[in-house]
Amino acid sequence: MKGERGFVVWLTGLSGAGKTTIAHALAERLKAVGYKVEILDGDVVRQHFSKGLGFSKEDRIENIKRVAYVAHLLARNGVVVIVALISPYREGRNYARQLIGDFVEVYVKCPLNVLIERDVKGLYAKALRGEIQNFTGISDPYEPPENPEVVVETDKETVDESVDKIWQALIESGYIPAPERVEVAT
Ligand code: ADX
Repeated sequence: MKGERGFVVWLTGLSGAGKTTIAHALAERLKAVGYKVEILDGDVVRQHFSKGLGFSKEDRIENIKRVAYVAHLLARNGVVVIVALISPYREGRNYARQLIGDFVEVYVKCPLNVLIERDVKGLYAKALRGEIQNFTGISDPYEPPENPEVVVETDKETVDESVDKIWQALIESGYIPAPERVEVAT
């Protein structure tokens, strides 16, 4: 165990891949066993302290840097921070990893054709019609993580299964304790 320090679970992946859903499910599980948890979600953050930032490479990296800074402050005060940002550039994610230290990168993976099919917010259709510029995966790059601690595949797994994988990785990295073994008397 790493004592009273928090840590950051950084979810990266395309829009609609399931980052927000997984963030909330993981947060509930952590809260249920007593952790202080905060979620920093792209859609929410962009209404507040990243308001005014757009989707150029420069603005996306600025967004990541702001979120990384806040996550760092919270984590060093014992909070478990779950970040849900597309964060498409390795440069930005590596910056966050360096700054934060206690960092668990989760690649929330889902094939583009499935996302276009789901299109919960209708943004892929708009991007494909050219009504939204620089849309990640359509007209803007996404650089998949090269060495993430966890990969979850949301077209193949339930939310609970994805959260289980992350949970296991947190145990293996020593951020949360392994469940105690129960001795069964025979
Ligand atoms: S990031 O690239 O800076 O990490 P972030 O996660 O904050 O992105 O915001 C992504 C959300 O913004 C998407 O889920 C979507 O709702 C919205 N959005 C609006 N325009 C774009 C765009 N051009 N590319 C990606 N997402 C966009």
